[in-house]
Amino acid sequence: MASKIHKICCVGAGYVGGPTMSMIAHKCPDIRIDVVDINEKRIAAWNSETLPIYEPGLSELVTGSRGRNLFFSTEIERAIREADIIFISVNTPTKTYGQGAHRAADLCYVEAVSRIIAENAEEPKIVVEKSTIPVRTAEAIRAVFDASDTEHHHEVLSNPEFLAEGTAISDLESPDRILIGGEQTPGGLKAINQLADIYNHWVSEDKIIKTNLWSSELSKLVANAFLAQRVSSINSISALCEKTGANIDEVAKAIGSDSRIGPKFLKASIGFGGSCFEKDLLNLVYLCEHFGLPEAAQYWESVLQMNDWQKKRFADQIVDSFFNTINDKVISILGFAFKKDTNDTRKSPAIDVCKRLLDEKAKLLIYDPKVEVNKIYDDLGTDEENPNVVICSDPNQTFENAQAIITLTEWDAFKDIDYEAAYQAMQKPAWIFDGRNVLDHKKLTEIGFQVRSIGKPHEP
Ligand SMILES: NC(=O)c1ccc[n+]([C@@H]2O[C@H](COP(=O)([O-])OP(=O)(O)OC[C@H]3O[C@@H](n4cnc5c(N)ncnc54)[C@H](O)[C@@H]3O)[C@@H](O)[C@H]2O)c1
Repeated sequence: MASKIHKICCVGAGYVGGPTMSMIAHKCPDIRIDVVDINEKRIAAWNSETLPIYEPGLSELVTGSRGRNLFFSTEIERAIREADIIFISVNTPTKTYGQGAHRAADLCYVEAVSRIIAENAEEPKIVVEKSTIPVRTAEAIRAVFDASDTEHHHEVLSNPEFLAEGTAISDLESPDRILIGGEQTPGGLKAINQLADIYNHWVSEDKIIKTNLWSSELSKLVANAFLAQRVSSINSISALCEKTGANIDEVAKAIGSDSRIGPKFLKASIGFGGSCFEKDLLNLVYLCEHFGLPEAAQYWESVLQMNDWQKKRFADQIVDSFFNTINDKVISILGFAFKKDTNDTRKSPAIDVCKRLLDEKAKLLIYDPKVEVNKIYDDLGTDEENPNVVICSDPNQTFENAQAIITLTEWDAFKDIDYEAAYQAMQKPAWIFDGRNVLDHKKLTEIGFQVRSIGKPHEP
């Protein structure tokens, strides 16, 4: 029987560290959890009424445990010293410099945390890679430990996170699986079981997959690559539907009913965004190249190319519809987050589409229910002085004199907008470009809109 974990430290209080630790704190009231970060502002927000990230159900989870067995602070060294187990949940962005630039993962934050662990751990610890990292990163972490003065042997485990933003809390509550990889030594196997014991508080044993370190590290990259590949696959077919009169929703339903294919992740759209898919695909491509597998690299790179093409295709279609002249045209933008139920805009397709329209000198009236105003300005590289970017606090404010409505995020509330009233407020002909295929196109056409969507014939 593995010895029990009493104290957890999680380094990195982001979209993964915050929700994951809040769930563990909720399910394991007997364990003290310190979530630590170098970002003081973020930590202050975790300790306030306005959490730094939006996820349905997160606020209730945090307030239930915060101050009891869940603590947010910047006391990284203390938390590391006191913990039995340390989760590394820092960001692992794509490198922007040197070897592997724009492809490989930048492991500088993981390495920095490893060094702090090596310097501060006064006894053997279990160190868990929660961040998504390239296969064999545990070797690099171990090299940092080996190069330090410490005589302690820290066990390194891989425990990638599979939550999806927008559904993080239900994903954490009922995960499809928990993956734990570790060294196949007595010490490694014991550490795997100690970590599994934490999850066993609410996840059944049959859902906990135990593997060697490299399988676990690689599986996370591959899972994201497969998900992104499905999006690109259906989007490639959406283009063919537009040429042939087939309807992408009908095709998706028809093929998704095949149990070998399955219905999930077959929704055509302007393309995937988010902080993970692109960087993890690039990382996989880099690894394939690094290990001398150019054909495999090319195969996965094409998933990204398809995604870029889909975004461009959508923006081109808007500009083409106005005979290449949208300067000074007012355009309503509904949604800026990369998907619904999150305030995250990292790699949001909305950024590319809006930038393209701004290049064409359109005036954008933008509404998103959860994304902060300053975030939108930052992402578009502009500020409130720019008369062509107006951020609205109500979707109805975006319709006044607009020539087109463009949906860029699939927020459920957009279905309930009074489009009759919107039509009245807009200039005619009034267009709708539904980048997420979430609106009732037939009804909108009846109101009088010119409707364009992804992968569907135009309503007569
Ligand atoms: N966002 C997701 O949906 C998701 C899902 C699964 C896995 N992941 C992976 O999890 C990891 C974290 O992602 P995220 O979205 O939470 O990132 P994030 O940027 O939201 O959070 C990372 C946090 O780490 C902190 N940090 C960086 N260096 C630090 C250091 N030296 N000491 C202390 N704190 C430090 C940053 O200040 C930041 O608050 C990434 O590897 C990502 O690929 C993300």
